[in-house]
Amino acid sequence: MKTVTPESASDIVLFGALGDLARRKLFPALYHLDLAGLLHENTRIVGVARQDFSLEECKQAISENLAKFVKHELEPAVVERFLSRVVYQSLDFKEIKSYDNLANTLNGGNETRVYYFSTPPAIYGDICQGLDNAKLITAADRVVMEKPIGHCLASSKVINDQVSRYFAENQIYRIDHYLGKETVLNLLVLRFANLLFTNNWDRNCIDHVQITVAESVGIEGRWGFYDEAGQMRDMVQNHLLQILSLLAMEPPAAFDADCIRDEKLKVLKALRPITRHNVNEKTVRGQYTEGFLAGAAVPGYLQEDDANKHSNTETFVAIKAEIDNWRWTGVPFYLRTGKRMPCKHSEIVIHFKQQPHNIFKDSYVDLPSNKLTIRLQPDEGVELQVMNKIPGIASQINIHENKLDLSFSETYGNERVVDAYERLMLEVINGNQSWFVRRDEVEAAWVWADSIINAWQGTNEKPKPYAAGSWGPVSSISLIARDDRQWVE
Ligand code: BG6
Repeated sequence: MKTVTPESASDIVLFGALGDLARRKLFPALYHLDLAGLLHENTRIVGVARQDFSLEECKQAISENLAKFVKHELEPAVVERFLSRVVYQSLDFKEIKSYDNLANTLNGGNETRVYYFSTPPAIYGDICQGLDNAKLITAADRVVMEKPIGHCLASSKVINDQVSRYFAENQIYRIDHYLGKETVLNLLVLRFANLLFTNNWDRNCIDHVQITVAESVGIEGRWGFYDEAGQMRDMVQNHLLQILSLLAMEPPAAFDADCIRDEKLKVLKALRPITRHNVNEKTVRGQYTEGFLAGAAVPGYLQEDDANKHSNTETFVAIKAEIDNWRWTGVPFYLRTGKRMPCKHSEIVIHFKQQPHNIFKDSYVDLPSNKLTIRLQPDEGVELQVMNKIPGIASQINIHENKLDLSFSETYGNERVVDAYERLMLEVINGNQSWFVRRDEVEAAWVWADSIINAWQGTNEKPKPYAAGSWGPVSSISLIARDDRQWVE
């Protein structure tokens, strides 16, 4: 991580400062930046929320949350410095006059501001209008928008239009926190700093790709939000498609925000739409029922607190995605993601093609192909499966499948893995848009996601049940087995 303190200070204005994301992720991320000396000494953190809190109450809440969500011992002097940066402003987001109070708080502070919208996206437009009305937007300001941006292509356009009435595209940072993960960023290094992979990364050498993002958690009290979204909108439309586009894109001409985003966009646009006629063959949607996780009984989705007992929302999705371009024709990308799976485990497995001719038949009739596994989380690392001779003097050559295993924690010591939000906050402060999603990318991702969601609606089928603690519905096994392949477990 860059260790240069920004030259000028800014005010970081967090809308939704008392919400779940701010408590769990944003304040801890800013604390870590402060700890690492990466916040300018005059940077202020302005918490904005509806609640009528006093500054002292706000600081108290932040310090309790730091104690709860920062994963190692807090440094009291840094906590004190951090809290001294905090300012609190209560605000009725929809009441235009109430932004004058915010103006009183911000005017006289730092000249550049980072506005972080961690509120429901439906009110991003109101916030922009309020800021504009109170003359709180300049060309130097930046705005960070949390996902989900919309519910479909049309609603995402409405939100993007509302925000872009007040901020230019180069001021807008659409966050997808997977783009801040160490191992996701490493995909570019792996692909474009190693000729071995740069040159063998296409339909000639790769048979298929599997991307799994499994979570053991359920919906964690977010029923209302989650039931509207489902796993397709919550995870596939953004996180999985971002991973897929980094994996499949052409080499960008330079390590630069627009070069990278231009190439990702081409992949998203080349995704073959899924239709009502093939949706059952190419996708599986599931919903967890009660089951066991780590030996404990857990409720099914429909038994969660506040559940609508008749919900048809999916908590699991498996998709056979195909990319219609020169590089990837004929190479399926199998995507799989779900809640309440046996463990938190995300990885990409690149299955290379088999050797065309086997001269080691006596020892190994069916030579397995090479597999490159990129472990996204936990136990971040890269593993390459290769064939190796078993040492010995036997008359025939005995060979064995083995692994070249690069575990980041073993190789780079016990250095803390930087949280995605920490890196992305710093990038916003530094004005680097490379790891943020451009509007056209969001829209292209919605076009494809909508094709699937509409096809599901057209078939009117319920999601397939799977027991909590399992790897999803049985039909997700058939999805890949139909192509004579199987999920890596
Ligand atoms: C969020 C989703 O974007 O990502 C959550 O809204 C999900 O439902 C989370 O649990 C997963 O993030 P991570 O970093 O824990 O893999």
